[in-house]
Amino acid sequence: MSNMAMTVLVVIYFLVWISQSSLALAISGLPDAHFSFVENRYEPNWASLDTRPLPQWYTDAKIGIFLHWGVFSVPSFGGAWFWEWWKGPNPRQDIVNFMKKNYKPGFTYADFAAEFTATFYNPDRWAEIFNASGAKYVVLTTKHHEGFCNWPTKYSWNWNSMDVGPRRDLVGDLATALRKQGLKFGAYHSLFEFFNPLFLQDKANNFTTQDFVQTKTLPELYELVNMYKPDLIWSDGVGMAEDMYWNSTNFIAWLYNDSPVKDVVVTNDRWGSNTRCKHGGYLTCKDHYNPSKIS
Ligand SMILES: *[C@@H]1O[C@H](CO)[C@@H](O)[C@H](O)[C@H]1NC(C)=O
Ligand SMILES: *[C@@H]1O[C@H](CO)[C@@H](O)[C@H](O)[C@H]1NC(C)=O
Ligand SMILES: *[C@@H]1O[C@H](CO)[C@@H](O)[C@H](O)[C@H]1NC(C)=O
Repeated sequence: MSNMAMTVLVVIYFLVWISQSSLALAISGLPDAHFSFVENRYEPNWASLDTRPLPQWYTDAKIGIFLHWGVFSVPSFGGAWFWEWWKGPNPRQDIVNFMKKNYKPGFTYADFAAEFTATFYNPDRWAEIFNASGAKYVVLTTKHHEGFCNWPTKYSWNWNSMDVGPRRDLVGDLATALRKQGLKFGAYHSLFEFFNPLFLQDKANNFTTQDFVQTKTLPELYELVNMYKPDLIWSDGVGMAEDMYWNSTNFIAWLYNDSPVKDVVVTNDRWGSNTRCKHGGYLTCKDHYNPSKIS
């Protein structure tokens, strides 16, 4: 072999060695067990979104805690649907009687907000207790169907926990306390709101308009993710509208591709009246659903 050929061979071996070791380096540097050398972009449709693997932390977590907390906690009677069952089209007699018995005539649901003081809220203590229980994540109702936001949102003036009631960022304070304990933070969020006039108008239009989604639901969801970087989004309250109305696949594509939590966030399946038990991160199907096997 000539000197020239020898040199060429050595150079080639060297290049092969370099590329193999940087490959090995790249593999050992990856956080998860699935390798993606080309960045995988999800498209805003279920066929694409449903291929995303469930983040490993969720599979390992096993136990989480779910907290329902809002203005409905003031009457603490009948649960988070109190307002609907008091003033909605099919009132519940026990709720109507409860109000007659305990509150003066003319008292409105909004009047409860001033009494939602959260005086004994001690998120650090809560988080210690949650952690001691062995749970690995905690989900809070950032906003239930009543529309009251437990964080200082730009999109719900005077119907949020900073403008009225607690005068405090309940969501942010809990997220911070949980993370100090090494726990994950999940955000429950209701798409629809019982009596929001924009939602009721879209509904009257058979969901052919999206005024509520464009000015309330979506801005609020983007804000929640950017402000608190939730590890989990527990979507709820489809309000009899399909995923198309809620722009769900567009939002989730952003969540999985470009959001600050794109690699860790877990979602559920309540993104439209047609998605439950079919599409999304993990399938909660109906309330109290027991999948009877590891899903
Ligand atoms: C949380 O609980 C675990 C045990 O489950 C414990 O090892 C850990 O120290 C706790 N975290 C803090 C910050 O105390
Ligand atoms: C909505 O649908 C119902 C039933 O199909 C129909 O009667 C009604 O006219 C529709 N309303 C609008 C605003 O399109
Ligand atoms: C919502 O969907 C509509 C129609 O598909 C689209 O024009 C709009 O850009 C979407 N908005 C967001 C914020 O995804």
